[in-house]
Amino acid sequence: MHALHARLPKHFVLEERLERYRDAIETDPRSYAGAWREACTPLDGRQAFRELRVDLGCGKGGFAAESAAREPNVLFVGIDAEPICIAYAAQKAVEGGLDNLVLVPALGSAVDELFSPGEVDRIILNFPTPFPKKRDAWQRLTHLDQLMRYRTVLAPGGSVVLKTDSQPLFDFSLTQFDLAGYRLTWRSSDARRDRPDDPMSWYEERLSAQGATVFGLEAVPGPAPEHVEQTAELSLAEYLPQDLTNLSYVPHGMEGTVTNLRNLRAKRAMGKREG
Ligand SMILES: C[S@@+](CC[C@H](N)C(=O)[O-])C[C@H]1O[C@@H](n2cnc3c(N)ncnc32)[C@H](O)[C@@H]1O
Repeated sequence: MHALHARLPKHFVLEERLERYRDAIETDPRSYAGAWREACTPLDGRQAFRELRVDLGCGKGGFAAESAAREPNVLFVGIDAEPICIAYAAQKAVEGGLDNLVLVPALGSAVDELFSPGEVDRIILNFPTPFPKKRDAWQRLTHLDQLMRYRTVLAPGGSVVLKTDSQPLFDFSLTQFDLAGYRLTWRSSDARRDRPDDPMSWYEERLSAQGATVFGLEAVPGPAPEHVEQTAELSLAEYLPQDLTNLSYVPHGMEGTVTNLRNLRAKRAMGKREG
């Protein structure tokens, strides 16, 4: 009974939120593939949107909402796997009167079903979940398979923009952009310094306050690779520096990996001394 009570309100709150802000949520997004801009243009005589940008893994939508407020001629589609995040993001769209921000509950791997070839001008990846373990690497939004999907939906000249506090995820991502035949047009080890006017995502705000510097890149598809083959190390542990004693900032989501590695190395060092 207690357990039931404990669970009910949470579920209820989610359902209620999704319902309250449903005007900004698209629950049948596949039906819009190829027609997002036309379908979302308000019926008040305004011109169709000049660009479509996708905020993939948008979280609670702070970045997408701020971007949409700044650029009313651009259509923003925020996608997240977590319905509760979509509910919060939709609240921002509705309360901010942002008719150029649509939220979609979906996985990043569906991106080539949600959009038609050439329909998307920019794919934004702000602080994507790192999934540090090798066996989870396929879930990273910068995994080779994902980057190949982005290629199909990007318009000519379209780009992918990545920001992350994680040097291992950033270095892994560089290998993936290379394998997927992208060309870097921007690469930074201090994205806030280099692009100070970009809206801040919620994770950027939170992690910068904890001492993170933000790595950033922008990449455009070059000629398609002849062979698409994964040759990179998939465990993010492999991208950490050898000496972890002086690692002053541990990237978000990698606390366990760093602790395990530190313990392992300490044990090895002890073993060597004893042996
Ligand atoms: C660390 S948060 C970053 C949120 C936001 N972009 C920010 O910078 O504040 C990562 C978000 O990505 C979402 N996510 C992770 N993997 C995903 C996937 N494969 N498809 C869609 N969303 C995903 C999570 O639900 C989470 O909301």
